[in-house]
Amino acid sequence: MVSKLALAVTDLRPTPSDQTGPRHVAIIMDGNGRWAQARGRPRLFGHHAGARRVRQIVESCPRLGIKFLTIFAFSTENWARTQAEVAGLMGLFQRYISKEMSALHAADVRVRFVGDRVRLDPKLVALMVELETLTIDNDTVHLTIALNYGGRDEVARATKRLAEDVSAGKLRPEDVDESTFPCYLDTNILPDPDLVIRTSGEARISNFLLWQSAYSEYEFIDTLWPDFEVAELEHLCQTFGNRGRRYGKAE
Ligand code: FPP
Repeated sequence: MVSKLALAVTDLRPTPSDQTGPRHVAIIMDGNGRWAQARGRPRLFGHHAGARRVRQIVESCPRLGIKFLTIFAFSTENWARTQAEVAGLMGLFQRYISKEMSALHAADVRVRFVGDRVRLDPKLVALMVELETLTIDNDTVHLTIALNYGGRDEVARATKRLAEDVSAGKLRPEDVDESTFPCYLDTNILPDPDLVIRTSGEARISNFLLWQSAYSEYEFIDTLWPDFEVAELEHLCQTFGNRGRRYGKAE
């Protein structure tokens, strides 16, 4: 059995020098509503199609060299949608977890959830914890699902926890820096995303992984999420290999 410490070491390993594609891909899965509307169907029909697409994309990760996949499923702003759509999405997340749990485990996928769980239905939270616990030792793909997630909310919650540790004497203010702060984020030990993709033609980051994507490459593509095929992801991974990432340094 792989220990948690060993997993932490795996997580933090730099991208192997022979890997040209992204090791961590993060996706803003946008366009489900428009996809459904174009077919004269309710928005939830698009979310269901989007969930089927998630499965295919997760399955493709080992072949594409994607060790970490982070997907934006529900933002802190999405509560402003109609009550029917929010309830439909919450039901979809519960069904997705129940239905996919054994397949994800069999495929050696480790699942984590990031975001604030306080506002979520306790039945959904129980399923999230069950899936995280079942897959805790898996290591082929690390799938992170952002659910009731907002980058600013995550930074604010992290800051609160950090302040609590300082006032409890567990952390000295002079020890707060770029390496200690991320330990308080929901993403904790996960490496930063190499590539962030947003589907559906919108060129915004919408409060996604604000701290973590400081040096990520971005791809804004027109495809609506339910139409996003593995071949397009593969193409984006290949294109990524041609980019020169400098992290602020000169050539
Ligand atoms: C944005 O499209 C998408 C969402 C708010 C929900 C994302 C959810 C899924 C892809 C469903 C399944 C996910 C999991 C993890 C099972 P939109 O509704 O804003 O589309 P629009 O911009 O065309 O209206």
